[in-house]
Amino acid sequence: MTAFTTIQTRPFDGQKPGTSGLRKKVRVFQQPGYLENFVQAIFDSIGDCTGKTLALGGDGRFFNREAIQIILKMAAGNGFARVMVGQGGILSTPAASCVIRKYQTFGGIILSASHNPGGADEDFGIKYNIPAGGPAPEAVTEAIYARTQQIDKYRTTQVGDVDLDQLGEYPLGDMVVQVFDPVADYAALMQELFDFDAIRALFAGGFRMKFDAMHAVTGPYAKAILEGLLAAPAGTVMNGTPLEDFGHGHPDPNLVHAHDLVEALFGADAPDFGAASDGDGDRNMILGRGFYVTPSDSLAVLAANATLCPGYAKGLAGIARSMPTSAAADRVAAALGIPCYETPTGWKFFGTLLDAGKATLCGEESFGTGSDHVREKDGLWAVLMWLNVLAKRQQPVAEIVREHWAKYGRNVYSRHDYEAIDSAAANGLMEHLRGLDLKGQSLGAYKVAFNDDFAYTDPVDGSISTKQGVRIVFDDGSRVVFRLSGTGTEGATLRLYVEQFQPDPAQHHLDPQVALADLIKIARDVAQIEARTGRTEPTVIT
Ligand code: G6P
Ligand code: ZN
Repeated sequence: MTAFTTIQTRPFDGQKPGTSGLRKKVRVFQQPGYLENFVQAIFDSIGDCTGKTLALGGDGRFFNREAIQIILKMAAGNGFARVMVGQGGILSTPAASCVIRKYQTFGGIILSASHNPGGADEDFGIKYNIPAGGPAPEAVTEAIYARTQQIDKYRTTQVGDVDLDQLGEYPLGDMVVQVFDPVADYAALMQELFDFDAIRALFAGGFRMKFDAMHAVTGPYAKAILEGLLAAPAGTVMNGTPLEDFGHGHPDPNLVHAHDLVEALFGADAPDFGAASDGDGDRNMILGRGFYVTPSDSLAVLAANATLCPGYAKGLAGIARSMPTSAAADRVAAALGIPCYETPTGWKFFGTLLDAGKATLCGEESFGTGSDHVREKDGLWAVLMWLNVLAKRQQPVAEIVREHWAKYGRNVYSRHDYEAIDSAAANGLMEHLRGLDLKGQSLGAYKVAFNDDFAYTDPVDGSISTKQGVRIVFDDGSRVVFRLSGTGTEGATLRLYVEQFQPDPAQHHLDPQVALADLIKIARDVAQIEARTGRTEPTVIT
């Protein structure tokens, strides 16, 4: 019989998990009962927790430690036998997925708002991952949300706080709290997948890299793996101490926010290789000396070179990419004679393909790359896979990518974001696009092969997702894609994805903005972007 206390509560509005759990301002989470209600709704929705083990940790942002203490007491009150919590409350999203799978826990709770800024006035987040290790599917998040609207009590235990900084096992009511090393299991898995000897030899030979942890969760992982196990020189990891406010930064690995890294790689005496990861460690950006690798190209290059890595030496079962991600990976899949799946945006859509063994590598244009080793995208994994490839090929990053383009052709690619536009205008623009029938028409020098609103039928479980983005595909394979962001916080964000296939190596050096100029103009005109949103230029171009 578990000793617990029941506390009366009342529902809060708006506890609806989004793409990646519940994300709100810290001050919203600090309201008495707010976090507690959501956690109880999770426990009420996932089945009998009695005697089970839960994994727990977060990205170290402001309110992480307080939230963990609250959740530990509630887990005890709800009958869990054990909670495995990362030392210092730290656990990256991919490491959580690794631990959930390895120890077959009853899922896990991850505290993170991913790449959103942290601090007392910034964002906090919480998500539940299922026992397979991946994000909760919609049926589960909907059940959690429904429960938050009915909730009238939660269960906790009246005991003191646990010391999160000392490794060991501690009693908490009738439950055991196991404070574990959040890096060890993850590092062990990476050593199974990649040739650490070859990478060590690469560093020993004078190869230099910079990894920007952006003061977020990957600092301890990158230091232990890169500077520890792989003996990269001290200082390889930049911004490696997790800070509650990420050093006032925006922990999103892209050319704008990872500016320290970009300066280093494009400046004088640049190192050979640069990489960054986001707040909770699932995103990645890859740079060579003076060279940016788009996430779409990164997926394709890793797929083409996967057999150089021990964990993938047997070859790939298939590749999966989100629809707006470029078709560069499709060309590799075709050459390898394996399937390439095109899914809606969102890592959760890869879960069934990975579980069924249909896909081995997955990637998204939004700086996500991963494989069947866990059920989340994995920033440091991508970095290690690149290092393994670099160690084996002994060529600079730019040369590897240019050779790849010469062999497969280049899918020239760019994304234009129009942020914080009026929601009604954004919805009107999408409705306008959905209503068009352009098949057979000429737009500039391009002829439309077809246009549609992407719909997906999951080949494993048959579930159908509609309205996943408007595509206009031209008969030479070029395309423009429009969708509204599912993660923006202010107004609406329109994303325009532009892609052109260029087989001619003589054209591969061109700046994508130049090469794609005609397609970009066609897209702006056909969507009436300026007339409908008042914007003449995008906010961000990547
Ligand atoms: C999150 C998800 C990714 C997804 C991205 C899309 O990062 O984890 O799987 O690709 O959101 O964001 P968007 O703002 O384009 O909806
Ligand atoms: Zn993230």
